[in-house]
Amino acid sequence: MNIDSIDLDAYIQSIFLKNGPDKEDYLEFFEIVDQVKAEDIESFRNKIAPILNSATLFGFSYTKPFGYSGDFFIIEKIYQSYVNPDKRYKKWDIFLHSAPAVIAVVNRKTLAIGIFEKLNAKAMGLRQDVMILGSGPVTETFEFFEKNPENSLVFEMLDMDKRAIAYAKNKNWKYLSKMTFYNRNVIRYSPEKKYDLIWSAGLFDYFKGKHFVFLLKKYYEYLNEGGEMIIGNFNIENPSRRAMEILGDWFLYHRSADELKQFALQAGIEKSKIDVLKEPLGINLFLRIKK
Ligand SMILES: C[S@@+](CC[C@H](N)C(=O)[O-])C[C@H]1O[C@@H](n2cnc3c(N)ncnc32)[C@H](O)[C@@H]1O
Repeated sequence: MNIDSIDLDAYIQSIFLKNGPDKEDYLEFFEIVDQVKAEDIESFRNKIAPILNSATLFGFSYTKPFGYSGDFFIIEKIYQSYVNPDKRYKKWDIFLHSAPAVIAVVNRKTLAIGIFEKLNAKAMGLRQDVMILGSGPVTETFEFFEKNPENSLVFEMLDMDKRAIAYAKNKNWKYLSKMTFYNRNVIRYSPEKKYDLIWSAGLFDYFKGKHFVFLLKKYYEYLNEGGEMIIGNFNIENPSRRAMEILGDWFLYHRSADELKQFALQAGIEKSKIDVLKEPLGINLFLRIKK
């Protein structure tokens, strides 16, 4: 539907009259959001103001109660498919969970668990050290431990937000003997040992290219021989990009597989050691570097 061919106020009002979009409205609503011009973003946000507050996930993202986009709390709500039961907000939360980018975030948790399981299978009982950069709620590791209570992996978690660390420690209380948390900035932190796997999702797409390359170079030094560093980043092909930006004020550096490979080359890593993985929707890419 062409945004210029409709009465936008009447359209939005009709959606609010039924307390949010129904399944059959999803495509059309996203299509309309995609067509909002830069100069009309504020007026579009005013039209949906009743949901741009922390009672909805869109509004939580937009108002940033923790002070930044992509905090541990909203990521956990995405993982748990949280829906506010209040009828004014419920349909909007269900709608958010239908967005391809949101499904891709859940997919990356599954991908992480699979990677941990593969490392564990390869370990044949030998201890494997894993570092997670920007660890957030630590839900992927929690689910890995729940599925694989006997495993050889030992984790170190790095997160700048002490509220994320408090949340993750509480969630993972059963597994704290296998997890050490550091409340540090990944840019300034220097580890004291080497790792078999360094994993990061939902972090590097907040960094400019020069910081991305700096971090690759730095953490590559902390990989054991045969180890891997796997770094997530949103793909430039993200059908939910405008919705994230307009409805959630959530801006990321989107990058292609080639750009990610270029960063690794710029960090001085050999071409044969570099490849790019993706979750099933191809919206979250993962630069994989072997040592
Ligand atoms: C979008 S969340 C991703 C969490 C987790 N990796 C996941 O995929 O579920 C990003 C996390 O990175 C943390 N973070 C952001 N910048 C950071 C930095 N410079 N150093 C350490 N942590 C950082 C945030 O506090 C937040 O918990």
